[in-house]
Amino acid sequence: MRYFIAILIFVIVATVSILGFRQDKFTQTPIWVFPDMDIQARYEPQGKNEFYANQMDDRPIVPGTVQRGYGWEKKQVFSGDYQWDVIDNPSMYSGKKENGDWYEGFPVEVTPALLQSGKEKYDIFCLVCHGDTGDGNGITKKYGMAATPSYHTDVLRSMPEGEIFNTITNGKNLMGAYGMKLNPEERWAVIAYVRALQLAGNATVEDVPQQNRRDLGL
Ligand code: HEC
Repeated sequence: MRYFIAILIFVIVATVSILGFRQDKFTQTPIWVFPDMDIQARYEPQGKNEFYANQMDDRPIVPGTVQRGYGWEKKQVFSGDYQWDVIDNPSMYSGKKENGDWYEGFPVEVTPALLQSGKEKYDIFCLVCHGDTGDGNGITKKYGMAATPSYHTDVLRSMPEGEIFNTITNGKNLMGAYGMKLNPEERWAVIAYVRALQLAGNATVEDVPQQNRRDLGL
């Protein structure tokens, strides 16, 4: 054991003295044992580029371009009325009523198109954890994300839409925030789809229109 520790210390000292610490400055090219992704083909700000005539990585922006907002929300970028929209329809952006309680229902019109877009976004951003039926058995469960709850509980069925909006916007415990990836309309669309999943998971024969019952053999 004594030898082992002595050898280990020797090996560590030798390795560090030959290879140095990460971030060390060298006069010659160091030996790169773990290159990770340090070197990769990419454009650097103000970098040199052989492809373009002026040899600059930076491409000039269109004359007169002014960025508005974060640049990811179409309405924010393209609508001159955006700020009034936020003032006129605060719940849409906060998920809260004027008195600070969670908003119940939807500040947007729930249409088949909205549900369809909600399904698309759900499949992209939520399905991996929450599963395609919302039972919490997404693929991440296999890899240890055991905390993902099922939507089919009384707590989540009765949770105000605004509170779900807040969870999507800011995340909650192990669940990350999706506010930067989904604009407010898309978040409400996803919530509508979550409601549809909850309805589907808790439906009875009474919910099936009379004319469709025969198709189901009922
Ligand atoms: C990385 C896995 C993961 C993804 C992706 C994910 N969630 Fe979650 N979600 C969780 C976990 C874990 C919790 C439990 C959080 C807690 O209460 O501790 C949770 C909780 C929730 C809840 C219950 C919130 C509450 O207040 O109890 C809702 C509703 C929800 N998620 C909706 C969504 C929606 C909608 C999306 C997609 C935009 C999404 N989640 C994406 C893991 C995820």
